[in-house]
Amino acid sequence: MKQLKFLFTIIFSAVMAIAITTACAPSGTDTSTTTEGGAESTTLTMATSADYPPYEFIDSSSGSQEIVGFDIDIARAITEELGYALEIDNIDFNGLIPALQSNRADFVMAGMTPTEERRQNVDFSEIYFIAQNTIVSLADTGLTTAEDLDGKTVGVQLGSIQEGVAQEIAGANVTALTRISEIVQEVKVGRLDAAIIEDSVAKGFIESNPDLEFNVIPEQGEAGSAIAFPQGSPLAAEFNPVLERMIADGTIEGLAEKWFSEAIPEES
Ligand code: ARG
Repeated sequence: MKQLKFLFTIIFSAVMAIAITTACAPSGTDTSTTTEGGAESTTLTMATSADYPPYEFIDSSSGSQEIVGFDIDIARAITEELGYALEIDNIDFNGLIPALQSNRADFVMAGMTPTEERRQNVDFSEIYFIAQNTIVSLADTGLTTAEDLDGKTVGVQLGSIQEGVAQEIAGANVTALTRISEIVQEVKVGRLDAAIIEDSVAKGFIESNPDLEFNVIPEQGEAGSAIAFPQGSPLAAEFNPVLERMIADGTIEGLAEKWFSEAIPEES
């Protein structure tokens, strides 16, 4: 009798364990929400690093602390067209690829450049915007080429392609920080001689900080932005045609005009 009870306990525990595991099994981060009209829509989680005006930044002007920008408008347009609700998760840039790898995010838009190394871990859409690397420094310091950075302290964002670019520059002492605004601040107060930042982002920071200047690094190849997905994600096949249409019909160009010609707030 005692043995039978023991056996029953084991079977019961096993069944419960299976039931609990099944109920909690992660299926990406997709969750279903019922909208007012009663229609079911799946929520997709987009991870970004909202320190990158005008791609993505926190709009402190309205008091809403909402994340806005070029990437956000594109993400909203695509998810809306595909019938998904969108949730945005703001994390450090170097945490974005891990977030995709662990399925904590369904996709990433963060002005992220597809590289061979990143392609080992995530899938990319086609490139929707092109940028160039620049040297940001105090105005009139004469730091205009990569050679000028020999013996200088150079700030870059941790985990960005600029970190790799800076490390290639002979004699540069590279410091990697998590947020772009921190790097700009360090250049302003003279703790860093320069920073390597993409042109459209540098332009905004220089507009609000006239004591700084930026110079495009001439021999540096172009860097583009693409949407990143977990490897093998079926979402890529859904997003790609919409993105391609938005590139072809001028929607992306219109959004670029909206965001890249506006003055950028000082704090992001
Ligand atoms: N394009 C660069 C890269 O992919 C920098 C992107 C930084 N993005 C950001 N949201 N801070 O590495």
